[in-house]
Amino acid sequence: MKYVLGLDLGTSSLKGLLVSKNGEVVISCSSDYPVLYPELGFSEQDPREWIYAVKTVIKQILTEVPFAKNNIEAISFSGQMHSLVLIDDAGVPIRNAILWNDVRTTKECAYITEKIGEDLIKVTKNRALEGFTLPKILWIMQNERDVWKKVHHFLLPKDYLGFWFTGNKQMEFSDAAGTLLLDIEKKAWSSHILKAFNIPENICPKLVNSTDKIGTVRKEIANELGIETEVAVYAGGADNACAAIGSGIAREDTGLSSIGTSGVFLSYEGNSVKDYKGTLHFFNHVVKDCYYSMGVTLSAGNSLSWFKKTFAEKLNFEELLDDIDRIEIGSNNLLFTPYLLGERTPYADSQIRGSFVGIDVNHTKLHFTRAILEGITFSLKDSMKIMQNNAGKQFKRIVSIGGGARNRHWLQMQADIFDSTILTLKAEQCPSLGAAMIAAVGKGWYEDFKSCADKFVIFDNTFYPVQKHVEKYKKNYELYKRVYPATKSIYMTN
Ligand code: XUL
Repeated sequence: MKYVLGLDLGTSSLKGLLVSKNGEVVISCSSDYPVLYPELGFSEQDPREWIYAVKTVIKQILTEVPFAKNNIEAISFSGQMHSLVLIDDAGVPIRNAILWNDVRTTKECAYITEKIGEDLIKVTKNRALEGFTLPKILWIMQNERDVWKKVHHFLLPKDYLGFWFTGNKQMEFSDAAGTLLLDIEKKAWSSHILKAFNIPENICPKLVNSTDKIGTVRKEIANELGIETEVAVYAGGADNACAAIGSGIAREDTGLSSIGTSGVFLSYEGNSVKDYKGTLHFFNHVVKDCYYSMGVTLSAGNSLSWFKKTFAEKLNFEELLDDIDRIEIGSNNLLFTPYLLGERTPYADSQIRGSFVGIDVNHTKLHFTRAILEGITFSLKDSMKIMQNNAGKQFKRIVSIGGGARNRHWLQMQADIFDSTILTLKAEQCPSLGAAMIAAVGKGWYEDFKSCADKFVIFDNTFYPVQKHVEKYKKNYELYKRVYPATKSIYMTN
């Protein structure tokens, strides 16, 4: 049997997934690394940690599955998006990577919007947000001139890994789209945006498709890791795009609800460019010449973790959520908005903060817990609504992954709030499975992602909306939507 290896370079760990040609997951291993917070709002990582982690993961896989040594045919990647890696002329990172969740660049975002706001949305389909790469580059130009002078290329994390494996520098479209420097329809670096900010085009790497072969694993790396055959390396994709294909999302009527620390509602857009006017993220997909859109709730699972840590430390998540079906839909008029760290979608507002509204003497810890789940799900529905209202999307099915898929009450709640059938996955390994699928399609084992998904993606449970619940939630959602405009002015600093 032949295998592919999917590597997911995440924010807190690197995960490797060995998958056979017919889609069977053989083993999954991971290795953690720290996020560094050198100053308030800064979030960084040392790229050497990723290399150390990838070596650890591959060695562990080959120790536990020795026959993989001469049977891995291809490797590909999924990676945290937007995070800036700057390398010098010797290909060495000049400083720590500045990560997607770093928020030091509010000033730079305002500057970008003021200078080319409208054009930015026209060309990149996205607005300037702290998480994206261009504001980070401007921050370096302004604040670290010595670093800037040494920059030979900029890369994103998984592209840096691809460079380390093969010696070739490139960036593929799904990640390049999240830099704010790509003309996403022309699939080319935008000379208009580069010129507007005096960024020389020659620091931008060559652009490739996700399933393009970028080289083979270098001999010295193969020797060190114990790989005994020539392994082809494929470019890979942004983690959200990889999660989408790893969840079998390749139809416009199927959405993805992913609830991790942050939450994502994602929709496959085929090959048509939708005009969301920057209200959603709109990126090139790993599926060639196709796109996807997504809305991001910054504190999804994070809201629940905060609540547990602060008010229910002794319970585990299962215990915390176990009885929420004892509380009625609407949590007895308790509303929660999950803006603990500001918000991205539908309100790009870094100042807003979360609220519990309608607290009553009869409310218990369980009401608060249920209100949090409802608030997180309403927030994802906000993103879904933008897709429905602006592009006429109808979601017949939504695949639920992450924390939201681990509790049957929350799954039913998603079916009722989204008013759509919810599907779960049997073995949920979405971004790393997506990376493995890129390797499998790149290698030519499958003609396209659809046929690959038929083998690699296995659905598990189905939850159907209950009409009586749907109607109740509709009323609560209308109330929920009134909380943001009513609380916004409290947090405005000027
Ligand atoms: C997407 C985003 C995050 C990172 C996490 O815009 O910032 O989802 O990709 O890895």
